[in-house]
Amino acid sequence: MEEALWRSADGARERIARGARPPAWFRDALLAIPAADRDAWLDATLGLAEIPDDGPELPRGCVPYLPCPVADLLRVVERSSIGSADVVVDVGSGVGRAAAAIHLLTGAPVVGLELQTRMVDASRALAARLGLAGISFELGDAAALAGSVDAATVFFLYCPFGGERLATLLARLEPLGRVRPIRVACVDLPLPPCDWLEADEASPDGVQVHRSAPRPR
Ligand SMILES: C[S@@+](CC[C@H](N)C(=O)[O-])C[C@H]1O[C@@H](n2cnc3c(N)ncnc32)[C@H](O)[C@@H]1O
Repeated sequence: MEEALWRSADGARERIARGARPPAWFRDALLAIPAADRDAWLDATLGLAEIPDDGPELPRGCVPYLPCPVADLLRVVERSSIGSADVVVDVGSGVGRAAAAIHLLTGAPVVGLELQTRMVDASRALAARLGLAGISFELGDAAALAGSVDAATVFFLYCPFGGERLATLLARLEPLGRVRPIRVACVDLPLPPCDWLEADEASPDGVQVHRSAPRPR
């Protein structure tokens, strides 16, 4: 990244830490960066120079930490129409990068669920460093925890796991989706068929939003 972009990231970080961060400002600042530099700019803005290694807590079948590309985060926010009235759950939140980006882009509170202690520690440090009270993180198996996040309206999944665990997660979300509209936004993660979720038209870029159709009362 060029010197000017590092300076831009420093300025953005200082502004975020001062609390002067309306979503429209952050979005414009991010979109002003050349597309090829946006991931590096976001890392620099959030102060994510050092990423903890994955630890031994990750069970078989669970995917290690890999940051979701900014291009996909922008697609998720746009296609799920996330706004400040939403409550977003990042299922497998890693170091909190996607949670922070979604929060800054939309103003929505984001709850990250993460199995690895080091990742949760890093996420909480990120939130504290930048004064982001709108993001919070819980340690545990997201498949078990996701259904209990109060008022959640959007579940974001950047391929944290598949198979049985994904089926368990969807079974936990079904009672929510049956009574209120929720969106399940997936990146590179095809969902098994669910009769309570309807997928938006498939897109070749790997970002797909599924919407629940609550039963009429
Ligand atoms: C591909 S990374 C995605 C990170 C983040 N959501 C992002 O988009 O930048 C998957 C993350 O899910 C976490 N993970 C995997 N299985 C999990 C589980 N069962 N419960 C909670 N977190 C899990 C991993 O530790 C890892 O941090």
